[in-house]
Amino acid sequence: MDFIATLSFLVLFISSAKALDLCGSQPDNSDLSVIPIYGKCSPFNPPKPESWVSTIINMASKDPARVQYLSSLVAQKSTAVPIASGQQVLTIGNYVVKVKLGTPGQTMFMVLDTSNDVAWAPCSGCTGCSTTTFSPNASSSYDSLDCSLPQCTQVHGLLCPATGPASCSFNQSYGGDSSFSASLVQDSLTLANDVVPNFAFGCINTISGKSVPPQGLLGLGRGPLSLLSQSGALYSSVFSYCLPSFKSYYFSGSLKLGPIGQPENIQTTPLLKNPHRPSLYYVNLTGVSVGEVRVPITPEYLAFNPNTGAGTIIDSGTVVTRFVQPLYAAIRNEFVKQVKGPFTTIGVFETCFEASAEVEAPLITLHFEGLSMKLPMENNFLHTSAGSRACLAIAPVPNNVNAAMNVIANLQQQNHRILFDVANSRLGIAREACN
Ligand SMILES: *[C@@H]1O[C@H](CO)[C@@H](O)[C@H](O)[C@H]1NC(C)=O
Ligand SMILES: *[C@@H]1O[C@H](CO)[C@@H](O)[C@H](O)[C@H]1NC(C)=O
Ligand SMILES: *[C@@H]1O[C@H](CO)[C@@H](O)[C@H](O)[C@H]1NC(C)=O
Repeated sequence: MDFIATLSFLVLFISSAKALDLCGSQPDNSDLSVIPIYGKCSPFNPPKPESWVSTIINMASKDPARVQYLSSLVAQKSTAVPIASGQQVLTIGNYVVKVKLGTPGQTMFMVLDTSNDVAWAPCSGCTGCSTTTFSPNASSSYDSLDCSLPQCTQVHGLLCPATGPASCSFNQSYGGDSSFSASLVQDSLTLANDVVPNFAFGCINTISGKSVPPQGLLGLGRGPLSLLSQSGALYSSVFSYCLPSFKSYYFSGSLKLGPIGQPENIQTTPLLKNPHRPSLYYVNLTGVSVGEVRVPITPEYLAFNPNTGAGTIIDSGTVVTRFVQPLYAAIRNEFVKQVKGPFTTIGVFETCFEASAEVEAPLITLHFEGLSMKLPMENNFLHTSAGSRACLAIAPVPNNVNAAMNVIANLQQQNHRILFDVANSRLGIAREACN
């Protein structure tokens, strides 16, 4: 009895100490905590969900809009999409990192997004923003950027007026159903102990729709205005992250910026650059196995195509991994062959079965050029809250999305270190428990 009481006290003590530490100061290096949106350290303070499967289904219900948005990120194309009307789930991204803008630094919890180039934050006086905004007036290092600068062209800024100076204004859509207007400005960006001076970002004036992250977004894409491009020598175009499970209430993962402290003996696959969608991180998916069986698939459904943008991307903002229909159907058929039914559909998941069959159920392996990623149980299946059903946690690319693009999403990346070594054009994947 005593022993149990002591043990529970210890467990309580350890978890609260860890939580305090994580929600407070950052580690003493370039690492940033990656905070799951439903976590204890999340400033958005959503109630701790009763049922994880419905929470994840809810989060995944925004994936079609996300995938549509990703497919719209075509070079030279203006990215205006219509704002959807009616009821919407509030989604504010899945993971946030704590950064500081300006001098002295103003704390913002920005959404981590590997498929966006530019960073942006809501600024004081903004219409439609939440209460936490960045106040340019309170920063001594703030400056606006002129419409004639090349950076303004990179954000598709409005043309300069015929006479007189003007600052750079631009509009952008986000998440498939929202948009904002912003001015391009510059200020110091503080990440853990590092300062990126004169960092250019969008200072948001007006928001419409519900998907724009309330405290801004940190774009880790590969375009010219992304954090990687602007931090130059500081991080040498290398970063990695470990995303904790959504269910991980007390813990945070980490974002490691720069080459120091990255895993050295990590298996890698080439990172491909697709000129059709230059912001996105493409990889070469060469096949998928279900258990020991390599799924038969016509190579064209996996092919990388620089003209159409077809191929496979890795994305931090999509929840459930999406395969193009023929590939998805082939994976599902093989899975159904190997597992005892009957199968039911729960939300986005079409292959749910008796949870008691889970230990025998085959695991999915993603084969990339030079690297195979065998998904552990937790990245393969989701459980209903009662625990009676297990669901294969993948889905097809939605029908209305005109993109031959597979998306490796965050549910499958959780508890892995994903290394984006842009400098050496390679992506590393290794199992790491960061819950
Ligand atoms: C910031 O300062 C400018 C110039 O002093 C002033 O016009 C503006 O109203 C201030 N904005 C806010 C939000 O305080
Ligand atoms: C940008 O957005 C603002 C506010 O929503 C709107 O008034 C303006 O017409 C838009 N400009 C362009 C070029 O889309
Ligand atoms: C993808 O990998 C396969 C197998 O190694 C190779 O034949 C193909 O050329 C690669 N595709 C690209 C675009 O690198």
